Amino acid sequence: MGKVMDVVSRRWWLTALIAAVVVFLLMQLVPIRVSNPPVTGEPNWDSPQTRALAVKACFDCHSNESKPYAWEKIAPLSWWISGHVSDGRAALNFSEWNTGGKGETGDIIETVKNASMPPGYYTWLGLHSGAKLTPAEQQQLADGLKLTLAQSGGGSSGGG
Ligand code: HEC
Repeated sequence: MGKVMDVVSRRWWLTALIAAVVVFLLMQLVPIRVSNPPVTGEPNWDSPQTRALAVKACFDCHSNESKPYAWEKIAPLSWWISGHVSDGRAALNFSEWNTGGKGETGDIIETVKNASMPPGYYTWLGLHSGAKLTPAEQQQLADGLKLTLAQSGGGSSGGG
């Protein structure tokens, strides 16, 4: 009796394992992953340093120059990540500045100063440690963005 049960449960586990592998492989056929549409125009940056800080802290989600890691292109993680990138681009896109990307610039200085951007899950575990800004970098980026917005037509949208 015990032996029969062993064989049955072993077979059950094997079937479950194969099913899981098949489901995982099928997931890879759903091509929802980050893609980069053409860059149509960036803001008139006040300095290359401001742009460099924005690139390292913001561009993965707020530009068309997102650089996901190879493992981030694997489903189902890729689905989750590309969702964040589309939400991010919808709110603000530095690569489509004059074609709708200006978005929610009313909050931009705020998000940098109170460190709500980049989001905590992004710099979590040091995965994107380069994107985590020091207080000095936060200040520099906030000041630079203020000047950049002033000369690129932004910041008066009032957020929302
Ligand atoms: C890991 C992805 C990611 C990174 C990196 C990131 N953001 Fe965001 N951001 C989002 C998402 C998603 C939204 C829209 C949904 C939300 O509000 O959380 C957003 C929304 C915003 C908004 C709209 C207002 C708001 O709070 O919703 C601003 C402004 C913003 N981000 C600025 C920045 C700046 C500046 C940086 C770099 C310092 C940055 N973000 C980095 C994902 C990101």
